[in-house]
Amino acid sequence: MALVLEGIYRSFGPVRALDGVSISVAPGECRALYGGNGSGKSTMGKIASGTLSADAGSIRVDDRPLAAASPASARELGVGITFQELSLIPELTAGENVVLTDLPRRFGLLRDRKAEAGLAAGELRKVGLARVADQRVELLQTGEKYLVELAKALSRRPRYLIIDELTATMHASEVETFAALLAEFLANGGGAFFVSHRLPELRRFCDTISVLRNGKLVFDGRLADVGDGELVQWAGGGQPDDAAAITSPHAGKTLMRLSGIRPLASTPPFDLELCAGEIVGIGGLPDQGQKSFLRLIAGLRPPRDGEAARIGDEPLPLGSSAAVAAKGVSFVSGDRDEMVFAKRSIRENMLAPFVSMKGRELPGDSEITAALDRLSTRHAGIHMPIGSLSGGNQQKILVARCLLMNPRLIVAEDSTKGIDVAARNDVHHLLRDLAHRQGAAVVVTSSEDQELAELCDRVLVFEGGAIIADLSRSAGTLSAQTIVSAYMRQERAA
Ligand SMILES: Nc1ncnc2c1ncn2[C@@H]1O[C@H](COP(=O)(O)OP(=O)(O)O)[C@@H](O)[C@H]1O
Ligand SMILES: [Mg+2]
Repeated sequence: MALVLEGIYRSFGPVRALDGVSISVAPGECRALYGGNGSGKSTMGKIASGTLSADAGSIRVDDRPLAAASPASARELGVGITFQELSLIPELTAGENVVLTDLPRRFGLLRDRKAEAGLAAGELRKVGLARVADQRVELLQTGEKYLVELAKALSRRPRYLIIDELTATMHASEVETFAALLAEFLANGGGAFFVSHRLPELRRFCDTISVLRNGKLVFDGRLADVGDGELVQWAGGGQPDDAAAITSPHAGKTLMRLSGIRPLASTPPFDLELCAGEIVGIGGLPDQGQKSFLRLIAGLRPPRDGEAARIGDEPLPLGSSAAVAAKGVSFVSGDRDEMVFAKRSIRENMLAPFVSMKGRELPGDSEITAALDRLSTRHAGIHMPIGSLSGGNQQKILVARCLLMNPRLIVAEDSTKGIDVAARNDVHHLLRDLAHRQGAAVVVTSSEDQELAELCDRVLVFEGGAIIADLSRSAGTLSAQTIVSAYMRQERAA
């Protein structure tokens, strides 16, 4: 009896997320699934729960095979999951979300709303949230949303549960609620994969651990047999020299001065200077204020009280993306759906940011073509719809259009996610060129620590909206290992 994943391979384009991973969990066992950002934990969880297909490998649940990747089949076999990115519909109430696929039907197809409400309230009571049953999920606190996600997963009475970074944003009391439910689940013969970066939590909840690094299993064993130092080192990967090959010139003079910055409302404000000629990565565990920081300096989120910025000798009008862009700040999102007008031509997409910038001349076609060429973007002419290109080439177009704006600062939010290695290299090459040769400042985030270590001159590690480590290539303190060590070790006890 066990949930067994054997020889699992999975690629996204040419990016290999899982490279022959075998792991299993037995009834009553809680196994930690541990590794740095981008190591393949969530992909493994999605494959185990039928949400994603594997390219190769097998999944067996108590000796019955999960034949096809289908959440319904996995559920039938008794596998459930709480998603790191949540599976709740924000506009529906907590109660509706819990019963969404379990709607009781009285006369054939008619829904029995009273039974539904009763069912939902019962499930939500277990996570201590009966009072929010009628509230829309979008109005809940983050920790509460994760508890609703848990209630939804548990309501299906799984025998095996994948718990993916459920506790990352929870308050201490919410973690206790979770702890009690997990104990009950395990005592009743459930088995769990528990994904978390918090070592104290892993030691509290898990007996066994599987460590992933770059899609490979690098350790599998009893948690009691290994120390925190070893775990952090395995997760970070013993390749201290991987990033050192690229040398970066010393940063130029200060380009942007930020003061009173509060990425999260709850953190004390800090000041920061960004230098010309420098690529700065913002790292750390997911959701520690990185996105909020990037969006602030790109003019996409309104400043909080006291937050201010200057670029060069002038104030930067935070809170207005057009005004910020006019001062030479260019934003590239990794969320292509947000940035791309699929039916519009490549040219129109390249020119889109200029439309809102009054008094700025539109770049000509030759300039557009030159920018695309600099990124070796393959296209059949700039009047073709952008939607006809591969994801990697679309992403390159978003980066290329930054070039047209002669930016002083480029803000790139996980801009190479899901694109192939060649396209990623092209983007890296261009960002380096802009920083090191043209003297622009570059600020990036990435869902992979490895990428930050390769690309950046300096990495600031965020936790709870504060900077907990400042690693730099020139000081010899920057590698995937030091990034992982910074956020794993600094993590406060849960
Ligand atoms: N839907 C996707 N499209 C493209 N690449 C993806 C997708 N999901 C994950 N990846 C890539 O697969 C790798 C593993 O990601 P993930 O499983 O989310 O890691 P973890 O949960 O350990 O942080 C990363 O390189 C990530 O960028
Ligand atoms: Mg993940």
